[in-house]
Amino acid sequence: MGRLAALLWFLAREARPSVGPPCVVDSEIGIRTLDWSVSMSERSYWPLKKYQDTYDRSLADPEGFWADEARKLEWFRTWDRVLEWAPPFARWFVGGQLNASYLCVDRHVRSWRKSKVAIYWEGEPGDSRVLSYSTLYREVNRYASVLKRLGIGKGDAVALYLPMIPELPIFMLACARIGAVHTVVFSGFSAQALADRMNDVKAKLLVTADGGYRRGRVLELKAIADEAMGLAASAERSIVVRRVGSDIPMRQGRDFFLHDLLARADLRVEPEPLEATHPLYILYTSGTTGKPKGIVHSTGGYLVFNCSTYRWVFDIRDDSVYWCTADVGWVTGHSSIVYAPLMHGASLVMYEGAPDYPRLDRWWDIVEKYGVTVLYTSPTAIRMFMGHGEQWPALHDLSSLELLGSVGEPINPEAWRWYYEHIGGERCPIVDTWWQTETGGFMISPAPGIQPLPLKPGSAGLPLPGVDPVVVDDEGNEVPRGEKGLLAIRRPWPGMLIGIHNNPERYRKAYWERLPGLYYTGDYAIRDEEGYFWLLGRADEVLKVAGHRLGTLELENAAVSHPAVAEAAAVARSDPVKGETIVLFAILGEGHGPSEQLKDELRAHMRRVVGAIATPEGIYFVTKLPKTSSGKIMRRVLAAVAAGADVGDVSTLEDEASVEEVRRAYEQLKKAV
Ligand code: WT7
Repeated sequence: MGRLAALLWFLAREARPSVGPPCVVDSEIGIRTLDWSVSMSERSYWPLKKYQDTYDRSLADPEGFWADEARKLEWFRTWDRVLEWAPPFARWFVGGQLNASYLCVDRHVRSWRKSKVAIYWEGEPGDSRVLSYSTLYREVNRYASVLKRLGIGKGDAVALYLPMIPELPIFMLACARIGAVHTVVFSGFSAQALADRMNDVKAKLLVTADGGYRRGRVLELKAIADEAMGLAASAERSIVVRRVGSDIPMRQGRDFFLHDLLARADLRVEPEPLEATHPLYILYTSGTTGKPKGIVHSTGGYLVFNCSTYRWVFDIRDDSVYWCTADVGWVTGHSSIVYAPLMHGASLVMYEGAPDYPRLDRWWDIVEKYGVTVLYTSPTAIRMFMGHGEQWPALHDLSSLELLGSVGEPINPEAWRWYYEHIGGERCPIVDTWWQTETGGFMISPAPGIQPLPLKPGSAGLPLPGVDPVVVDDEGNEVPRGEKGLLAIRRPWPGMLIGIHNNPERYRKAYWERLPGLYYTGDYAIRDEEGYFWLLGRADEVLKVAGHRLGTLELENAAVSHPAVAEAAAVARSDPVKGETIVLFAILGEGHGPSEQLKDELRAHMRRVVGAIATPEGIYFVTKLPKTSSGKIMRRVLAAVAAGADVGDVSTLEDEASVEEVRRAYEQLKKAV
């Protein structure tokens, strides 16, 4: 931007009329809505375009619409066809070539952004690092050289098992630069969970660290990584990042310290022109079977979708300081910490540790320290802070905040209001973004960049352009407005998963066979009279613990792998902070009796097998599990017992047992527990 333009822009910003708190009105469904249209259209990137026009065009001419969006990126070669749709497989921008690392770093170092801050990194112990775009560029190049020198090339899988340190995004971009496919495994997962993922992708290399900090303690990642290497035959080598400086065993010829490899690395590695359909990454998420699914995302469609949705939803600008509090190990971290913000040349904040360490104001201290303008977090975190009181955020100046976001689970209106008042100072709209690992990016969300409409606390709002959701009954017929049903998507979108790794049949079955011709999300929803979507939680056998996804079968497999457990069933219990917690019903095998000690052992076992997020909160030892005549566990009955509630209304969509059967099973189980 020229100096004059910058000055004019600054004056225009300063001169904009100050707006009072958005007005509060009552909507038809009895929840208050907030009208922030005045304030937001003022600061919008795309102020004149009305949401409805854009949305209508996106559905009337999806290929033209997405081609226009795709042109906002830089391509090495333009696509031949925007979409090849051979249901249920979609290929976007076929024939096009691009590179994610080029878009995230090279493009910026050729502009004034080269000296702009890319990453403000805050370590848990209080250390910090600031990386400019040119530093990021240099590091991504050097890391790419390290990978190449270890024999990693296009199409090879690399597992990244790292704490929240800058090396994690750098490795992701370095993989993307040479066309290697990264699989990030959340650093809270166990050795077994890591090895399962490494085996499934046939990872050639594992990148880990000597440790990471969490609530003042050191996570011993290298020990876990070593165990996983022993269980994963494909991984020949490992790279170890020094983070905590502890003394760790290194196996000669297999393990290499990153700093040693960097000392011999080249300074430049050309970004590989990759086909739009080349996989950018594989990320595992839980489903209804015991085995997590390797969700594969493409390079072209995924990046186009994220670049656009991010602009619409977070209205990102060059003076934004953007902080997504998720871990990079989840899709939120992939899209909303790494790829979308960096494509936009934003300055992002990345924090290593726990939100309450050393004190409950750690996050608010970070917001103040870096002048965060956009904060994106989960309802669980908000409810946790709400429980501790507004005196903690009140210790800090949070006036830099302009926009707030929520993701991962439904946000209850009470938490929404607390977030709005005590964090956003009643100034900032909240974007409640509904999406999934599989969708790659935001699907349903308020979008200040194009959609200055009233917000309804607890609703994710309207679909984004190009996204065609519908609420249907069990047969796939659309239900009337205001009625609960299953959320489905009617047509492919560019960020849609390109498949489940090595398992096209499972992909077809999990997403495209449940409802004819529709993408099945696994969520319940209601669409209200004004078209707003209200998300009502999962309709399948998937739990959401603190926003993290866990399959009941995955948990049950982990439980029965304990020698004392013969059979087990896991259900969710609703929790005021975490949304849901795990309750396990277990039948013990011959020679094992129930005891408190066994419960503790079982908890420790689940942590070891899956990870800390799989720790059951409640454990009940029972002698029988309620089952339908076809042998399916009656989860509703178990959930009612776990909640200490009556079975209540049993006529819901997922019921496969008769009312009488359910009641009988419930009474029996109540007596036994
Ligand atoms: C499931 C996807 C996508 C980022 C993190 C989670 C639930 C996600 C919302 C929201 C209500 C939400 C759904 C969805 N979910 N965002 N704003 N309101 N529910 O990714 O682990 O793939 O989980 O999270 O149940 O299906 P994920």
